Amino acid sequence: MGSYTIAVLPGDGIGPEVTEQALRVLHAVADRWGHTFFFQQALVGAAAIEAEGEPISDATMNLCRRSDAILFGAVGGSPRREGSNATIRPEQALLRLRKEFELFANLRPVRPFQALLNTSAIKAEVLQGTDLLVVRELTGGLYFGKPSEIRETAKGYEAVDTLIYTEAEIERIMSTAFDLARGRRKLVTSVDKANVLSSSQLWRRVADQVATEYPDVTFEHLLVDACAMHLIRRPASFDVIVTENLFGDILTDEASMLAGSMGMLPSASLGARRTAHGMFGLYEPIHGSAPDIAGQQKANPVAAILSAALLLRYSLNLKKEAQAVESAVEHTINAGYRTEDVREEGKNLVGTNEMGSQIVQALLVVEA
Ligand code: IPM
Ligand code: MN
Repeated sequence: MGSYTIAVLPGDGIGPEVTEQALRVLHAVADRWGHTFFFQQALVGAAAIEAEGEPISDATMNLCRRSDAILFGAVGGSPRREGSNATIRPEQALLRLRKEFELFANLRPVRPFQALLNTSAIKAEVLQGTDLLVVRELTGGLYFGKPSEIRETAKGYEAVDTLIYTEAEIERIMSTAFDLARGRRKLVTSVDKANVLSSSQLWRRVADQVATEYPDVTFEHLLVDACAMHLIRRPASFDVIVTENLFGDILTDEASMLAGSMGMLPSASLGARRTAHGMFGLYEPIHGSAPDIAGQQKANPVAAILSAALLLRYSLNLKKEAQAVESAVEHTINAGYRTEDVREEGKNLVGTNEMGSQIVQALLVVEA
């Protein structure tokens, strides 16, 4: 029994409705195991731009800093132009959180549920046995490199983004991936574009160095275009995939289809910081704010709920509780409950709230 503080940033679109279900699940965890969770809610993204004039305020950043973990929904919406050049975008909130808290390691586990193998666009026989983890570098690369701008020249507009990585940045994400592989099937695939990009050539060099410190782990390189292909051709052959920021962003949307839907994939963003309980981190579904389906009970809360499970595991060090939440989700899917995104003939189609209710009920009875 312990007490923990969790910053809750529901955000925009379907963010609030899926986060609400994750909170119900955390309340159920608190009840069953006698923990105390202090939830501190704040605005982020378009909601915060509207009410506070910026995607995330300093006050909200401080609230996060004082917490053991951050439970994040989704951000998105139309950018607001400020003056001639500056544009405020809801996504800047997420980038600020990642950067300021140095959450450089984004863990995106992809483990399709057996009962959903037939709903995927990929053949069940190809998916069979898939259990992979994408370790996405989250605070470097094109997302943060400077310059990044559109500028006017004598020949018209031009635009530039900068893909920059330091040795130290590559080394720490590589070590994270190898450490994680040791707790799994001990295979690391480093993904880059070393046949073209200088940043990838350094990536490969550092990766090779780090690999020598882990002789017990099998290591391979794969070009990102080939990886995109092999992910749907032989997904079960991967264990840990480690890659730079933008490649990881793209490959994980692709990989989500192995699990049936974007609505199934959770993520954990971790850095070096430790709290009294565990690792400080931010937890969010990999999906976006999906404004087209917001408020219609169509969103799948599973990604948000599984993100809460990762929060329990990594930041609060509540391992059996995390496992119980994951089992409750699987139990609910096995019992035939499906949201719109993974709907199936002959199964029980339910809304966001009802899916949450079923998972909460399952949580009260699953073995722990
Ligand atoms: C993600 C999202 C974000 C990203 C957006 C919202 C900035 O797509 O977490 O994958 O590109 O990292
Ligand atoms: Mn993305």
